[in-house]
Amino acid sequence: MKDENQKYLWWQEGVIYQIYPRSYQDSDGDGVGDLQGIIQRLDHIKSLGMTAIWISPIFSSPMADFGYDISDYCDIHPLFGTMEDFDELLQAVHDRGMKLILDLVPNHTSNEHPWFKESRSSKDNPKRDWYIWEDAKEDGSEPNNWLSVFGGSAWEWDEKTQQYYYHAFLKEQPDLNWRNPEVQEAMMNVMRFWLDKGVDGFRVDVMWHMIKDDQLRDNPTNPNYKSHQATYEKLIPAYSTDQPEVHDIVHMMRKVLDSYDERMMIGEIYLPIHKLMTYYGTDKNGAHLPFNFLLLSTDWDAGEIASNINQYEAALPEGGWPNWVLGNHDQSRISSRVGQDQARVAAMLLLTLRGTPTIYYGDEIGMRDVPIPEEEVQDPQGLNMPGLNLSRDPQRTPMQWDDSENAGFSPSKPWLPLPADYRRVNVKAQSDDHGSMLALHQRLLNLRQEEDALRIGHYKPMEAQKPLLAYMRYTSNTRFLILLNLSHKTCHFHPEHFQFEGTIEIDTLPEREGTEVKDKISLSGDEGMVIRLKHL
Ligand code: GLC
Ligand code: MG
Repeated sequence: MKDENQKYLWWQEGVIYQIYPRSYQDSDGDGVGDLQGIIQRLDHIKSLGMTAIWISPIFSSPMADFGYDISDYCDIHPLFGTMEDFDELLQAVHDRGMKLILDLVPNHTSNEHPWFKESRSSKDNPKRDWYIWEDAKEDGSEPNNWLSVFGGSAWEWDEKTQQYYYHAFLKEQPDLNWRNPEVQEAMMNVMRFWLDKGVDGFRVDVMWHMIKDDQLRDNPTNPNYKSHQATYEKLIPAYSTDQPEVHDIVHMMRKVLDSYDERMMIGEIYLPIHKLMTYYGTDKNGAHLPFNFLLLSTDWDAGEIASNINQYEAALPEGGWPNWVLGNHDQSRISSRVGQDQARVAAMLLLTLRGTPTIYYGDEIGMRDVPIPEEEVQDPQGLNMPGLNLSRDPQRTPMQWDDSENAGFSPSKPWLPLPADYRRVNVKAQSDDHGSMLALHQRLLNLRQEEDALRIGHYKPMEAQKPLLAYMRYTSNTRFLILLNLSHKTCHFHPEHFQFEGTIEIDTLPEREGTEVKDKISLSGDEGMVIRLKHL
């Protein structure tokens, strides 16, 4: 049980907002978002009540994977601006009392990175061992059966030096060899470079991939593989990911962060709950927030979600702080996964659960996945595995600001298309509408900021029949009852063993806000409510 007098840190009490920089705001008319664009929109983010902004990679890159292939960790890609623009952005974020989190991609570099160019130049180059090079098997085939997340083998043959190198993602993204102390030191220096500038933290890309089995043993086959899945799913990545030694590296990173004041790291980790928990580290010496992606994969069903929340809460290590995610640049948007009406309920869930929420840009106005014609697909994941509908372009489309040409995102044709309905679905239209998704977010974020019970209070599941999800958030003097109808049909909350009296404080149907309730409530389809309970 948490102590109410304990001091909480910004990344515990706050809300994180993720920006995909290519798509937030274009300031120079090239159809691609940039840093000056983000600066122009900081007031939107601040007025929503966000605490921190995480920006997907903005560094030098050939853009084979849209910035997740880095060729210089300590420079800004000209598409996004200059280092001066970055410094200005950091200052502007801090001036508004917010924090800035950068994306750190330590697992792999671009094949254009000078480190890799050296490494591949000859077998005896001093940087040869910075990457994972292996001889072919006797018959010339790959060293083992490992597969690339983006399709095909994870090994690429290098004609010149007659060895294979390993790449968990694109062949343009060779994996670094984290067993090499020089690699470790180089990446710690990258961290120090940004921390010295005043950056508040990192979201660490594919943290669970960072170190591989030292014997490079074959991965076992996955008996549950289905043909509509990516080929990567054919194997269970038992030896290529989540190795015990990864925790030493995470700890090493943590030590760098801890040598500064109140900096933090989030780990991108797609693993089952019990494995995920190990990334908090022993004795809290790991990631501050190993990303909790449960809501991305759980069926949208009250029973399933309730049981996942309870398992997650129960599995948290002593002092481990929870967090929740509804969407990111790799996943279909929440409004598309569960529909626009349920997305409102989902927002209420995200912002009333215990733990730090991360909101993906555009979800605050209910943006949906935008259909991209097959011949216009840009995402390598989509291009490499055609026919499986795996492109991530639909969830990366430009932010819809207003009803003007190109939605106020850019004066030019945006790099990805806008949806047909952007003139109706945009920030400006929703700003003046109390019933809008944006207004709902605003009310939820405000209440969360004002109320300890929601920010740092306890969580208690309440008994409820499907399709209702019910729980309480409370401190010693304030209690909120949260009721979420996860279906389109009406339902009723009439608990046998629990009497209550209170006022609906926030409702997805704003007309009901302020209503007094007692002992039983009927909910409309797709309705969610936050009830302030009277003290009994
Ligand atoms: C992470 C990123 C994803 C990227 C991959 C390879 O999963 O979120 O966008 O493609 O890593 O860097
Ligand atoms: Mg631009």
